[in-house]
Amino acid sequence: MKTRVLPVSRESIKEACEILRRGDVVAFPTETVYGLGGLGLETAAIQKIFEAKGRPTTDPLILHLPSPDLQEAISAGWVTEPVPTFAFALTKHFWPGPLTLVLKRGRLVPYPLTAGLETVAVRCPAHPAARQLLSSLGAPLAAPSANRFGHISPTDAPAVLQELNGKIPLILDGGPCPAGIESTVVSLIDDPPVILRPGVISAESISESLGIKCEISTSLSQKNTPSTSPGMLASHYAPQSPLYLCREPIRHFDPKYQFILFGPREGSSASNVHSLSPDHRPETVARNLYRTLRKVDSLRPTSILMDPVPDSHLAHALRDRLFRASSGNATWDGTRWILTPRSQN
Ligand code: TXA
Ligand code: MG
Repeated sequence: MKTRVLPVSRESIKEACEILRRGDVVAFPTETVYGLGGLGLETAAIQKIFEAKGRPTTDPLILHLPSPDLQEAISAGWVTEPVPTFAFALTKHFWPGPLTLVLKRGRLVPYPLTAGLETVAVRCPAHPAARQLLSSLGAPLAAPSANRFGHISPTDAPAVLQELNGKIPLILDGGPCPAGIESTVVSLIDDPPVILRPGVISAESISESLGIKCEISTSLSQKNTPSTSPGMLASHYAPQSPLYLCREPIRHFDPKYQFILFGPREGSSASNVHSLSPDHRPETVARNLYRTLRKVDSLRPTSILMDPVPDSHLAHALRDRLFRASSGNATWDGTRWILTPRSQN
């Protein structure tokens, strides 16, 4: 199959809708990462998504909604009551935007989308192209990140093409994603709500908008067994070359490795040193993280060494992604880098 890449326009959105309505899949930009969309209420389209990604069918998908009004999703049969008041408070505050809510599955949502669970993850994206696509379609889209299973999420159209060339008919190119890491996933099945995946919206701002403290689920992040959030496996978002997280800010540059710094390159102009943010802003780091990992990984280095993540409102999300992407830790012993693989248990 030939994969076409078309810039977002009225015509390309119309064409995307035609492809989606006949049950096929289309990649499109969101404010977080590119999604691989298919009709969310159609089992055959959902199966196509799992096939194109090579994703296990035990890992449920997010249903992307055309409207930020949660009541509409309830009336349409995509979410079932009772819906806690917390959910309405969160959607009023953060939708459209990078927040995914886990609620009770509506009767029209097919089990393949939820991987058999009685819950469904829903979000209304803010990206203008995603909103245009969803409102032209007038139906919800199942959409995981548009990468092959276990790979780094794509944050621009060339990255989607690198991942899914020949497997999907169309990529809508809306340029680089402004946020660069995935949405925050919050379970409202639990009381108080629990953050299953830290993301663009911090635990602090969620807690603040609810007036209660929201915990980040830790049981899921550091092991390799699927649990209540089946997609949260420890090894995920991984480059092909092993990635090592440095315990202290990198000051020593060995030509054997590729180095990724959080701040500016300052003294080092060597071609094996890369910066995530010339301005030190966590938002810039998030926006550049996956693109930089992908670029550095394409050089196929023996190892990639990464600066520690400084504290900020995005630190949880960045540390979560880097932990999953990493093979272990690196320390400088005064003369050389010591790379310690993460133990498997
Ligand atoms: O930013 C995002 O969320 C992007 C864009 C495309 O919207 N999507 C995305 O989807 O990251 P995906 O499939 O790569 O990640 C969805 C996460 C997985 O960890 C999955 O296990 C979890 O959401 N999830 C989905 N349904 C769930 C459910 N019913 N209960 C718990 N976790 C669920
Ligand atoms: Mg993903």
